[in-house]
Amino acid sequence: MDAGRSRELSGEITYAGVLHLHQLLSLQQPLSREPSSEELLFVVVHQVTELWLKQALADLERARDAMTGGDLPLALRLVRRATDVVRVIDRGFALIEALPAYEYRRFRPWLRGGSGFQSAQFREFEILLGIRREFALDQPAFSAEERRRIQERLRAPGLWDGFLAAARAQGLDLPGREQAAADPEARDRVLETLRELYLTGNPPLLRDLAEALVELDSAVALWRHRHAVMADRQIGSKPGTGGYGVEYLYRTARIRAFPELWEVRAYL
Ligand code: HEM
Repeated sequence: MDAGRSRELSGEITYAGVLHLHQLLSLQQPLSREPSSEELLFVVVHQVTELWLKQALADLERARDAMTGGDLPLALRLVRRATDVVRVIDRGFALIEALPAYEYRRFRPWLRGGSGFQSAQFREFEILLGIRREFALDQPAFSAEERRRIQERLRAPGLWDGFLAAARAQGLDLPGREQAAADPEARDRVLETLRELYLTGNPPLLRDLAEALVELDSAVALWRHRHAVMADRQIGSKPGTGGYGVEYLYRTARIRAFPELWEVRAYL
């Protein structure tokens, strides 16, 4: 490399500059009148969760495209990394779980109607996984930009569409969800094809991919469950700041993005 180019590369770039640290570290603004490190923790965990959701969305979008394009090793690597990201999010929730409820109540009133229920990225994440919950998608709290992103996600194929494309490209007879919902014979074929895939491991990598998707689904369900337990410990039977509450959260722990892959377990 010539000296001029090397100077150009090492030039004005600093650690703080690359990471926009000045802006980043000025974004933790407490709402209450007597802010403490407990409120800081609450804000940091939420912000970090949003950053990790951004990463998971980017990885899973690429994973879906890799499945559609037949690059199964890449899809596998990215689905597994997104699963690790979900587990890191889960660890952040454990930090809040240990936040004493008597500390949380000091700043909770200041949150007013602000709730994770209004996280547009979380809704995008669900949609990409193939989970459609219409009632959660039309919220007054969403900005025009967030609505646009959600609509775009709804139009785009999800991870299961990617898996179907990869399976069909390898010659598997795997009907889609609409077909399976309308036709019991197609539904049986889904189970039979998946059972065959699980028992033979053929074609290679597709079974690994199916298991990686189950692993991701499982990590999300555990995270949902931890969220419910954590919220239970903080607010018990009080309504949530978004108006739904803890029982709602416990119910969400039953949600599965890839029900076909769970159902087939009963036949193995
Ligand atoms: C003291 C801590 C927390 C409590 C008590 C709590 C409580 C709740 C409750 C009760 C709901 C249901 C909606 C409502 O009634 O508001 C909810 C939803 C949600 N919260 Fe939390 N939460 C806490 C921390 C977090 C953190 C750190 C995040 C990370 C961003 C988060 C993300 C979410 C998301 C994404 C939903 C929507 C879940 C769904 O609709 O399936 N929450 N939370």
